[in-house]
Amino acid sequence: MKKKIAVLAGDGIGPEVMQSAIAVLDAVSDKFGHDFSYAKALVGGAAYDKHQEHLPQDTLDVCRQSDAVLFGSVGGPVAEYANLKWKNCETNSILALRKAFNFNINLRKTTIYPELIELSPLKNSQLSTGLDIVIFRELLGDIYFGEHYLGEKNGLRYASDVAQYDELQIKSIAHYAFRTAQTRRKKLISVDKANVLATSKLWRQVVSEVADEYPDVAYSDMLVDNCAMQLIKNPAGFDVILTANLFGDILSDELSVLSGSIGMMPSASFNVDGFGLYEPAGGSAPEIAGQNIANPIAQILSAAMMLAYSFDLQVEANAIEHSIRQVIIQGYRTADLATKAKNEIVLGTREFTNKIIENI
Ligand code: IPM
Ligand code: MG
Repeated sequence: MKKKIAVLAGDGIGPEVMQSAIAVLDAVSDKFGHDFSYAKALVGGAAYDKHQEHLPQDTLDVCRQSDAVLFGSVGGPVAEYANLKWKNCETNSILALRKAFNFNINLRKTTIYPELIELSPLKNSQLSTGLDIVIFRELLGDIYFGEHYLGEKNGLRYASDVAQYDELQIKSIAHYAFRTAQTRRKKLISVDKANVLATSKLWRQVVSEVADEYPDVAYSDMLVDNCAMQLIKNPAGFDVILTANLFGDILSDELSVLSGSIGMMPSASFNVDGFGLYEPAGGSAPEIAGQNIANPIAQILSAAMMLAYSFDLQVEANAIEHSIRQVIIQGYRTADLATKAKNEIVLGTREFTNKIIENI
């Protein structure tokens, strides 16, 4: 299969872990006889250095001419946020990409490797049945894209952010989430704040109507504050979570840490035509950039998601996931995954990636 992949490595650890993902993709294309080509383009601070903007037209064009987008991470050190290179870098890059391609569906997955259970902030007893949760987050509505105002009112400093949804936005992602639930453990929990918010009341109404079309999926609603608590108390009670933009932002960070390291959570964003962008859920981690110590797993798993969802190459995607699992079983770790157990071998980003490639 011949595919062109837009590669937007970005800032911080982005370029290093992207190199890992591409090396793994090359190993997969060698083994399975595919032809992947990579169109590199600048984004974030890296784009700002050259074009004084975080998402240049060039980059949008490269994405548009590709079959899928593989994204690294953007953003700089917190102490340098006043610097124009970093100011609003994340929103200018990521939110603008979402808007430009109408990526309304975001999917993040968390799984725990039994060998790494020690790293989870949860107790072993809570993880006895493992952890395998996907969260669907609506990406183009809610309080993110409503009007933002920061100014004055009645002589006082004043701000407001408008949250909004129409029924089609909710329906679109709900169908996607229910269809995914059908391929998993057939349990979907929709998360909202319907005891207070009008957008949540509409959300609940529309999701329950969509649920009627999927009688084989066990569906229930949960308030977001309760959900934040239940994810810690009883993570095994979750299979598919479906939620709005802001709640999804917060809950997906909570989920990412349950597995023990935020360096392991991949993410995919789609539009209704199926075009997708794939990125690790963690950030650019500038404090560890360039030291060959970053964990490349989330970036590599994002590439695997790209194979599965954009190119329908499920066997190849499974080969990557399996190979990562093998490397963990063999005792190899990146620094963030070290538990100080006896037979562990801590490797750098490149060396760890080579182990994954050997197992493909
Ligand atoms: C995420 C990020 C973004 C978001 C930021 C960087 C704008 O936190 O993808 O979860 O809030 O969506
Ligand atoms: Mg976030």
